[in-house]
Amino acid sequence: MTTFQELRLDGVRRRFGGKDALTGLSLTIRRGEFIALLGPSGCGKSTALNCLAGLLPLTDGSIWQDGSRLDTLPPERRGFGMVFQSYALFPHLSVRKNISFGLQMRRLPRDEVRRRTDEAIKLVRLEEHARKLPGQLSGGQQQRVAIARAVVLEPSLVLMDEPLSNLDAKLRLEMRTEIRRLHQSLGLTTVYVTHDQEEALSLADRLVVLRDGRVEQIGTPEELHNRPANAHVADFMGYRNLLPMKVKAVHGDTVALDGSGLTLEGTPVGPVAPGDDVVAGIRPEDLRAGPHGVPVTVEVVEYQGRELAIEARTAEGVALFLRATERPSPGDRITVTADPSRVLVFP
Ligand SMILES: Nc1ncnc2c1ncn2[C@@H]1O[C@H](COP(=O)(O)OP(=O)(O)O)[C@@H](O)[C@H]1O
Ligand SMILES: [Mg+2]
Repeated sequence: MTTFQELRLDGVRRRFGGKDALTGLSLTIRRGEFIALLGPSGCGKSTALNCLAGLLPLTDGSIWQDGSRLDTLPPERRGFGMVFQSYALFPHLSVRKNISFGLQMRRLPRDEVRRRTDEAIKLVRLEEHARKLPGQLSGGQQQRVAIARAVVLEPSLVLMDEPLSNLDAKLRLEMRTEIRRLHQSLGLTTVYVTHDQEEALSLADRLVVLRDGRVEQIGTPEELHNRPANAHVADFMGYRNLLPMKVKAVHGDTVALDGSGLTLEGTPVGPVAPGDDVVAGIRPEDLRAGPHGVPVTVEVVEYQGRELAIEARTAEGVALFLRATERPSPGDRITVTADPSRVLVFP
């Protein structure tokens, strides 16, 4: 296996017809990492992946594998494996032949082709289906063939572009675990594109959040979850309450806020001063019904197993999403509080 210690993207940019699809992507991928590129449709995820793969030339910037320049090499010289949303299997070849095809193209000895194909089939748990044609398999099984076909070549980097988006919800969860298991057991380095933040958070060691072709934040799931860099990333990370408020006073590490029918204490994510208009970001699970706090009116109560999800309204009519352990009724007046460390204040 050709391998590397790190892969460095330096100011990677790609334009289409005078419009930037991707600008200023700088990222160092360490060997063994699982990186997710996350963002809404059209934000430049596939463009980034295709630039890495060599399927798209860069408009500007460079890509380095350890000390050597990579972006000038054609795709086949980069030694990367790719898995796409559409499986793109050979319909007339059996599962086994689809998987062994790349090894045969490399003119490897027959014994080695057989051994490595067997291993790959076992890894993706398709032993019982090895003789079938792709058309005889379920969507999830076909995607497993596509994955086996990529990893059997022992690529130094595996690139996956929304590989699970054609599968139903249950299979998606199963395959997610499968992909993480393969990544670990084969010691792969993986770059994975998705628009699903839950998928990205559960799979990746680090996430790159993209918006309109630009990097919004790069960090571990914990970093993004606890410290989103701005209100947009916060929105993506489940901060359902994004409330326009005003800074009343700054005391040390916290600020007093007012607005949207609420008064709260929060923690600023950037510099703020009294009088500033800000957005307060709070996750529903951090906004709790309790004996003290701001009065709100309950509108909808949903049972969610261990807890209740509540939608309420402030005196100014702003919707709030929160959690409770005891069931209120619609129309009830309750009071809500949040720990100041869990109220993020975005300038
Ligand atoms: N071949 C192309 N020609 C022109 N515009 C393109 C091409 N490929 C992508 N784009 C544009 O670049 C932007 C980013 O696209 P893409 O990387 O495919 O987004 P994503 O994968 O995040 O959905 C979009 O505005 C898209 O329309
Ligand atoms: Mg795409």
